[in-house]
Amino acid sequence: MQGPLCLWLLLLFYGSSFASPYDGPLYDSSAYTKCKRRPEEPLYGGGVLKDEALNFQPIVDDSGSTVYWPAFVLQSLTQGTLYSFSSWVQINGASSALVRATLMTEHTTYNCIGTVVAKHGCWSFLKGGFEITSSSNLSLLYFQNSHDRDINITISSASLQPFTKQQWRMNQQYKINAERKRAVTIHVSDEQGERLQGAGLMVKQVSKDFPFGSAIAKTILGNEPYQNWFVERFNAAVFENELKWYATEPKPRQLNYTIADQMLEFIRANQIIARGHNIFWEDPKYTPEWVRNLTGSELQSAVSSRIQSLMSKYKEEFIHWDVSNEMLHFGFYEQRLGPNATLHFFETAHESDPLATLFMNDFNVVETCSDESSTVDDYIARMRELKEGGVSMDGIGLEGHFTIPNLPLMRAIIDKLSTLGLPIWLTEIDISSTLDKETQAIYLEEVLREGFSHPSVNGIMLWTALHPNGCYQMCLTDNNFRNLPAGDAVDKLLKEWQTGVEVGQTDEHGAYSFYGFLGEYEATVTDGKKTAKSTFSLCRSDETKHFNIQL
Ligand SMILES: *[C@@H]1O[C@H](CO)[C@@H](O)[C@H](O)[C@H]1NC(C)=O
Ligand SMILES: *[C@@H]1O[C@H](CO)[C@@H](O)[C@H](O)[C@H]1NC(C)=O
Ligand SMILES: *[C@@H]1O[C@H](CO)[C@@H](O)[C@H](O)[C@H]1NC(C)=O
Ligand SMILES: *[C@@H]1O[C@H](CO)[C@@H](O)[C@H](O)[C@H]1NC(C)=O
Ligand SMILES: *[C@@H]1O[C@H](CO)[C@@H](O)[C@H](O)[C@H]1NC(C)=O
Repeated sequence: MQGPLCLWLLLLFYGSSFASPYDGPLYDSSAYTKCKRRPEEPLYGGGVLKDEALNFQPIVDDSGSTVYWPAFVLQSLTQGTLYSFSSWVQINGASSALVRATLMTEHTTYNCIGTVVAKHGCWSFLKGGFEITSSSNLSLLYFQNSHDRDINITISSASLQPFTKQQWRMNQQYKINAERKRAVTIHVSDEQGERLQGAGLMVKQVSKDFPFGSAIAKTILGNEPYQNWFVERFNAAVFENELKWYATEPKPRQLNYTIADQMLEFIRANQIIARGHNIFWEDPKYTPEWVRNLTGSELQSAVSSRIQSLMSKYKEEFIHWDVSNEMLHFGFYEQRLGPNATLHFFETAHESDPLATLFMNDFNVVETCSDESSTVDDYIARMRELKEGGVSMDGIGLEGHFTIPNLPLMRAIIDKLSTLGLPIWLTEIDISSTLDKETQAIYLEEVLREGFSHPSVNGIMLWTALHPNGCYQMCLTDNNFRNLPAGDAVDKLLKEWQTGVEVGQTDEHGAYSFYGFLGEYEATVTDGKKTAKSTFSLCRSDETKHFNIQL
């Protein structure tokens, strides 16, 4: 099993900076979100837990009392290693309960390294992981249910697989090569169809397939340096606040789309795609003040006008709509309009703009698993509920407001979300301003690599709209568009994730081959005095793209 895969890694790394063979572990992206009668085999044959027995350990909880929870005793964990963790979980004593895995070392307690909503009578899959800040000789990895101690937790097929930083990076690179690039062979022939050996070729990537962008604010209007800076880098945007209800209808029936329209002009003028953010925001704090006071039919009518006005005005303009923002954390509309309010929002939005992909969008889903409002299983349950309610088109929005990222956990959660088979976007990536700028940049790069290398992630947006008095958490540049460390990190990755200019000559078969990042290309062929120009595009596929140019 390992043999051929390793060979693939070798082949795919050829030509990149990783030219040496890779014999480390291959990341296992298996994930399950349905409760099963029997647990599957442990990933990696159990990894370092292969011969470890689970036993009950006394754990002192927040209130100071001792509870016995199932635990693994781990002898040595090393700093700088990424640990991927998974297990199957079943409970007794309730029909369903949130089970959390925690890691306690002699130095620190990592409150959450994975969660699962486990059930009685069938097995659920928990997937997560961790990195630790200092090596540990003795630690406990235990499972607990925070709310009800009468619940018994049973564990099966547990697995803990370590990856060195380099192995993790190799696995990312392998996925990037396999999913974000494609092999191309260009065939050059003359008018008679004779293949031409030694013809000169220059191939240039002119656009990128992967949507990568940032939030923008009205500060971009009339600001040519900001506009140029943005257009040079990004092919996707989202308006930070300017489409929100409080911005477009500050007072009842006083609709004002002036700013949004001007921002949209900038978008159109530069062939950028834009996400629509957002129709409703469930957080009462960000509901227009005049809406906060409405109830019953008045609220219903205000809500209908909002959706009608916004969606008819911008039909087909935005690629996505965040319909009911942050609904895992807040419930302004459902509390007032009943449990089906969200479903109706999605239905109405879909009728108004049938081709837009409708998104859920929430925080603390990939950032951490400590937030019990927004565990991956809650997200999935909500998504399934909407689907069963008849919502036809939808996508998974993960905000990604990180502090210290936990990459194995982030990847594990995306693996679980991938089982839904829906587009996943990282919609608001940033790193907390509680960290210094250098650290923000390091973590940002890690998170972006993780996102770009996950095959199910369809696009990445940064939450870095520029404000002269400071950005939300993180600016990429200063006010004169000189890069801050985070800006350097982004520029480095933008460069790494595009094909440089390829220059070469056709071989004895009249062909020239290379690996290119997905996107649009321009090829120029020269043979003697003759020159031909042509364009082609590389889109996602396992097959080599063949392309003919005649001189
Ligand atoms: C939990 O396990 C204990 C010890 O095995 C057992 O006495 C108890 O009945 C179990 N509780 C439930 C709810 O299954
Ligand atoms: C771990 O064990 C090693 C060797 O036994 C010892 O040198 C080291 O101090 C221990 N570290 C901790 C944190 O206890
Ligand atoms: C709409 O907003 C623009 C930009 O803020 C403002 O200049 C204009 O006066 C507003 N129009 C109305 C009718 O309030
Ligand atoms: C909303 O209600 C509060 C308290 O009932 C009132 O003080 C406030 O003026 C109202 N706001 C609006 C915009 O109607
Ligand atoms: C919500 O929608 C479902 C499915 O359409 C329906 O069966 C149910 O009665 C509705 N509930 C309420 C409170 O309107």
